[in-house]
Amino acid sequence: MTIERFQQSADKEKYVHSVFAAIAHRYDVLNTTLSFNQDKYWRRFAVGQAALPAGGKALDVCCGTAMLSLELARRAENATITGLDFCEEMLTIGRKNIAGSEHGEKIQLVQGNAMALPFADNTFDCATIGFALRNVPDIKQTIAEMRRVVKPGGRVVSLELAKPSAPVFKQLYYLYFEQVLPLLGKLGVGIEGPYRWLPESLKCFPHQSAICEYFTEVGLKQARYHELTGGIVAVHVGVK
Ligand SMILES: C[S@@+](CC[C@H](N)C(=O)[O-])C[C@H]1O[C@@H](n2cnc3c(N)ncnc32)[C@H](O)[C@@H]1O
Repeated sequence: MTIERFQQSADKEKYVHSVFAAIAHRYDVLNTTLSFNQDKYWRRFAVGQAALPAGGKALDVCCGTAMLSLELARRAENATITGLDFCEEMLTIGRKNIAGSEHGEKIQLVQGNAMALPFADNTFDCATIGFALRNVPDIKQTIAEMRRVVKPGGRVVSLELAKPSAPVFKQLYYLYFEQVLPLLGKLGVGIEGPYRWLPESLKCFPHQSAICEYFTEVGLKQARYHELTGGIVAVHVGVK
């Protein structure tokens, strides 16, 4: 199977599930270490773009260990946050993170698939997805599902790795991302495979400008994106 066919297949879902099941216990610490602690800033920025009102309802798709869900909970008073992920091992860590937070009682975690969200149309004030559009077999379907469950006027926000363009920075970044990071990941989790997936998944992932077009194509208005940290991360925003 070609890498392009794999990217859109059910095999990809199974593979991605196995990757996150294997790294769940070290995910948070490796995320922070490998991103030089930038992940917190990126999540804060994404949550700011989601504009969750006080007392509102947010959905955090592919919530993993609930770090973005917790940031949403911290930001909006009396809000309720639903985190959804298909990997029980990641949700287990998420439940521990929630239990350890003063904002945890605002969050509930459910198991489900991002490509077929188990919620009625127009349920949430905003929907976020963090570092996960790369992982789903159909990016546009996932964004369309997020749009479907958001109320009119609500925002859909994606925080995701992107493709930097500044010449020297870009070369240094890809050297780190493709050569150094998989080795550090292997040291962190004790097996090689999972952190090889990270650079692989970015190779076939569309440029941030193309993701922005997907936002428009599924019917989101005012689609735009913000590049952070020299363009290694992008935050996309669209309004229903
Ligand atoms: C890189 S982690 C991101 C976790 C979290 N959003 C964060 O900001 O750290 C990607 C998550 O997406 C989940 N995931 C991937 N494909 C999924 C799908 N089709 N449905 C639900 N969850 C999925 C994985 O289980 C994993 O927890």
